[in-house]
Amino acid sequence: MQTPSRAGIAGTGMYVPPRVVTNEELAKLMDTSDEWIVQRTGIRTRHHVDPGTGPADLAKEASMRALEAAGLEARDLDAIVLASLSPHHEFPGTSAFLQALLGISEIPAMDVRCQCTGFLYALQVGRLFVESGQYPRVLVVGTEVHSTGIEFTTRGRDVTVIFGDGAGAVVLEPAEGERGVLSVHLHTQGEFARKLWVEAPGSVFQPRIDQALIDDGRHYPQMDGRFVFKHAVTRMPEVMREALDKNQLKLEEIDLFLFHQANLRINEYVAAQAGIPPEKVYNNIEVYGNCSAAAIPMCLDECVRQGRVPEGALVLMCGFGSGFTWGASVVRW
Ligand code: UT7
Repeated sequence: MQTPSRAGIAGTGMYVPPRVVTNEELAKLMDTSDEWIVQRTGIRTRHHVDPGTGPADLAKEASMRALEAAGLEARDLDAIVLASLSPHHEFPGTSAFLQALLGISEIPAMDVRCQCTGFLYALQVGRLFVESGQYPRVLVVGTEVHSTGIEFTTRGRDVTVIFGDGAGAVVLEPAEGERGVLSVHLHTQGEFARKLWVEAPGSVFQPRIDQALIDDGRHYPQMDGRFVFKHAVTRMPEVMREALDKNQLKLEEIDLFLFHQANLRINEYVAAQAGIPPEKVYNNIEVYGNCSAAAIPMCLDECVRQGRVPEGALVLMCGFGSGFTWGASVVRW
């Protein structure tokens, strides 16, 4: 029996909306400061959409760039897997809107809702689609518009200062030789679902949203920041070890580490604890903030375009977020 080809990343792309929002601008709207935000999170700016732009629009731009990098056109795709926690509309999924924006039809398009680990979950689905032989070319996208769902007042400041809008995409196709996605490792711990969540609108309410829910701010993200932080710095090293062991790799053999961009302090702590040299870790949270499902593919695209991922390089991606969800993947370029 023929061994199925691994899925490889044939092209990457990213996009952020043009409007840059500085810490100083946020400090005019709520009780915060550039100093607090930089010291606690490492973030200096983030990008926000203008009214009327949604996550499918950002995803389209990132996808077009990934397709171009892969030397392909949208009509060459066999499936779309899109990760987002900020859907374009309640339903249908953002992937359907993206498919239409790409000017294609009929290929399957599905959404993955796994928050900041969403890209890794989508990558696993896309990779298995490719390896099955049924869908050889799969577009995997992470996209978020956070700015329309956060509170620009002191009540929401813990979350509002960290979130940004953006999209990142990869095109998967069968890889040759040793290249490709070596493994993906995924976890969820639903008992902590309410430690970082948006409660409403929710199908448990009749109606799903009303003025009382809005007045209580239950349509805005609520986060127990310290609790999330503590679990992130525990789970990320754990799942990295799982990925390395599975592939019989030593930490030193990894050329590039791409972590979810939630807080620079999380990534610095994880890298320092594991003994990873800073030059092997790429962060862009300083300029984009936390773009949830888009963060890892945005980092990947910047590294690829900067020539930081030569042929044969081993890349380890790792994320943690709401759910709680966490995961890691090793890719040989
Ligand atoms: O992407 C998904 C995963 N998300 C994460 O991984 C986020 C993890 N958590 C974090 O990154 C951090 O917990 C935060 C950046 C959100 C908060 O930093 P912290 O050092 O954990 O602060 P804290 O929540 O313990 O709050 C310390 C103080 C509080 O004031 P009091 O109670 O000490 O008077 C907060 O009210 O800082 C206050 N605070 C702020 N002050 C100025 C919270 N947010 C802000 C703010 N500006 N934006």
